[in-house]
Formats: sequence, structure tokens, C-alpha cells
Amino acid sequence: VRVLAVASEVYPIIKTGGLADVAGALPIALKAHGVEMRTLMPGYPDVMRRLAGAAELRSWPDYFGGSGRLLAGSHDGLDLFVLDVPHLYARPGNPYVTAEGVDWPDNGVRFAALSRVAADIGRGLVPAFVPDVVHAHDWQGGLAPAYLHYDGGPRPGTVMTIHNMAYQGKFDRSLASAIGLPSHATFDVHGLEYFGGISFLKAGLQLADRITTVSPTYAHEIQSDEGGMGLGGLLRERSSVLSGILNGIDVEVWNPQTDPHIAYRFSSEDLAFRAANKAVLQQQFNLDSSDEAPLLGVISRLSWQKGLDLLLEAIPTILDQRMQLALLGSGDRDLQDRYQAAARANPGRIGVTIGYDEVLAHLIQAGSDALLVPSRFEPCGLTQLCALRYGAIPIVSRVGGLEDTIVDIGEAGREATGFKFAPVTADALAGSLRKANAAFHDKAAWRRLQRSGLATDVSWRNRAGEYAALYRGLMASRRA
Ligand code: ADP
Ligand code: GLC
Repeated sequence: VRVLAVASEVYPIIKTGGLADVAGALPIALKAHGVEMRTLMPGYPDVMRRLAGAAELRSWPDYFGGSGRLLAGSHDGLDLFVLDVPHLYARPGNPYVTAEGVDWPDNGVRFAALSRVAADIGRGLVPAFVPDVVHAHDWQGGLAPAYLHYDGGPRPGTVMTIHNMAYQGKFDRSLASAIGLPSHATFDVHGLEYFGGISFLKAGLQLADRITTVSPTYAHEIQSDEGGMGLGGLLRERSSVLSGILNGIDVEVWNPQTDPHIAYRFSSEDLAFRAANKAVLQQQFNLDSSDEAPLLGVISRLSWQKGLDLLLEAIPTILDQRMQLALLGSGDRDLQDRYQAAARANPGRIGVTIGYDEVLAHLIQAGSDALLVPSRFEPCGLTQLCALRYGAIPIVSRVGGLEDTIVDIGEAGREATGFKFAPVTADALAGSLRKANAAFHDKAAWRRLQRSGLATDVSWRNRAGEYAALYRGLMASRRA
């Protein structure tokens, strides 16, 4: 089976969130299942630097308003197609926003261009790699199934994966001619049309043969009006082709026995070394050095989705339970400011680092006692999976992939791996902090949670098999 994946970020080349982790790990895990996946991504500066020796397959004097090239290369075991269109992608910083945090004004054209070439590869632009399936991730790839649909004629199967319903790629209808789609497509309620404008995500969800999202619970939640964020009705109509496949993590990158980023490496048999990492973490976050104070870690984008405003409200509980907090994150200005103020007001107890720092993220997993993910919604979530592998106990809200990947102490018949709270309120969160604190001081209970977490399979191995089965099923149904 040959699959062309389309993604706007791919770890370890460029990453802003979990999408990159998935796009970087899935192709490698699929090899064991007989799937040959190549990934198409934009030629941002970071990509062009790392793929300096890539071969040119095609060039165009005018690709969406400037010269462009399609390159093929590989990096760290990943086979890549890179769309090098300098006037669209040769920009500093983040793939989606300016230095001021504002969306690039031409994002519609930028990701239409990516999807256009995906559709063309789907139809044989690169004779050495003609895919059976084109697999688009998030709204940035959403037009790939749409181009394949509106072009007409024979085409590969198409899969659209939702990593986050909150980002829908909404634009003005007038974009249609600039991106080479017929204007009727933008009026088509079974096409791009979306509340008087167009949406790239909607186009993909409407026109792809199969839809997946990254956990079974999120697959269910997005069929409601609230969780669907405007697309619930469409997803209810298409529920027979919608499924949830849980994410895994790269267990080589996240391996406490070999992790080069942590102070003391450890195996699941000698968790005692976690204490040494905890001491280093406390130092780095200017927290009081104490083995007895449960240390809570957070590694997150700071956005409404992640519920971290609720954690601010729960700080009094953290303090009166004699817990500590180490938070690493960046995003909303307002949340950044409030967390920095909380750290200033509570020296030794609340430590905050604003920024994106992979090394520190690993140290937090290795040194914190519990990892907090109080999200309002969470399609899958990856940090709680890393926590399971590092012996940090997840404390999570009962939504989306958090519900599916963590077993609460109250769930009958299964070994608990963490704490889940509902509803997603500051009160419920505070309640679970108190429960976790009690368990922390019961060493045997805590060790038991750690052991069942460490025994949980968080790898891609079996989960990649579900994608392989999906591709094969799709091919079989299209032949029939
Ligand atoms: P999302 O994709 O919604 O941001 P996920 O939990 O799926 O959430 O994935 C987030 C990924 O980004 C994880 O690999 C996490 O370790 C990483 N990450 C998030 N924030 C930071 C940060 N400030 N510094 C380093 N890594 C981060
Ligand atoms: C999104 C979601 C997150 C998920 C990630 C990878 O960014 O917010 O829950 O884990 O994509 O699928």
C-alpha cells in the first residue's frame, strides 16, 4: 500500500504541537504494517535547511503567484516531498502566524497550494510514487480531497484526519479563483460552502472517502453540536465513515532509559532515580528543594482549549496541599502574564517558564510526580502518554483522548493509571488534586499507579495497524 500524507508540520523538522509528532512517527510505524508512506510538507526555511540535498522533481515558473519546485528527499527515516514555493513559505518563525501572532494573511493560498500538489501527486505527477491513498491532516490538507473530487476522473482513495476541530481554515468565498476551484464549489453545501464563506476543513470532511480523528471519544464528541463546533451535523451525516484511532508516541524519542535530555536516566525497575531528576527540575524552576512536596508538571500550549485558566484558579489548593507546580508553555499573552504573576507571588512553590523548550519538556516528564492536563476538549493529547512512560501520574479532565488513555482510580476492573475529573471546572480539578495528594503520601498506592502506567502500551505499533487496516479497507471498497 502506498500512501501520500499531507501535513503542515512534521517532527523533528518543524513542530508547533502534537500534529507534528503524529506526522513524524506514523510513517515509520506503518512500515511494519506494509504501508509505504511519503509525506508532503511546505518548504519552510527549517525544512529547506535540513533537506539541502533534496532532488528536484518538478519546477513551475508560476505556482500560485511565484516560482515553485517540488523536491524529494529524506530526513531521519522519513521520506518527504517538499513544496518549495519561496513567496509562500520562505518566512521566519511559525508556520501559521507572524511574529506578532497574527495569521499570515495569505494562509488560504499557502495551504491551497500544498493541497493542490498533493492532489496532483495523487494523480500520478511523480511516476515513481503513485499513491493508492491520499491522507490529509487538519485543515491545511483539507483541500486535497476537494481538488481530487472537483478535478473529476480516476483518483486515489482519500482520508481526512481531524487533529483539532477548533481550527477550520475559514476564508472568504472570493478566494476560489485564486486557488483554482470552480466558483460553484464555494456555493456547494456539500462542498466548500460554510456559513456564507468557505472552510478547508469542511471541504475535506465532506469530500474525503474516510474521516478519522485521534481518539474514539473525540470521534463521538465531535458529532454533537457543541463538540462539532459548527460541523457536528455534517459529521453525524457521515458517521458511517468516521472513526477514532488513538495516537501513540515515539517510544524511542520518549524513553527514560536512553533520554539524552534528562539529568538521570532510569528504567521502570529503578524509579528511585526520578528523585534525582525531581531535584534538578526544582532547581531549574526555582522551587524549594523537597522530596516530600508533590511536584505537578505542565507542558502545554497556553490556549483556551487546555483549561489552564482553571489551574490558575486552583492555585490556592496547590498551596494548601503543600504541592508545587512547574509549568512550561507559551501562547495566549494573558495566560502567560497571569502565570508569571503567580510565580512571582509564590516563590519556591510555583515555577513558570514561558517558551517552547524540548529539553525542559523531557525533564518535566522525568522529574515531576504528576502531570496535569485539565483540557476543556482534547482530541487525543500526547503529554499524558509521555507521562505514563516516565512514571509521572497523569491528572486529566475526562474528555476526548484523555478519557480513552488514562484509567481513573475509580474505574472498576482495570488497573488505575491516574486521576480523571469531570466536569471541567476549577472545583473538580481541585478535588482531583486533593485525591492525588493523598495517594502521593501513600507510597504503595503511588507506586502501583506508576507501575500500571509504565505497563501501558503507548507506542504506535498497534495503532499504526489500525491505519493500515483503514487504508486496505478503503482500497477494497473502491475496487468493489
Ligand atoms: P497539542 O497538539 O494540542 O498542542 P498534544 O498534547 O497533542 O497537544 O501535543 C503537544 C506536543 O507539544 C507534545 O509533544 C508536547 O510535549 C509538546 N509541547 C507543548 N508545549 C511545549 C513547550 N512549551 N515546550 C516543549 N514542548 C511542548
Ligand atoms: C491536536 C490536538 C491534540 C492531539 C494532536 C495530535 O493538536 O489538540 O489533542 O494529540 O493534535 O493528534
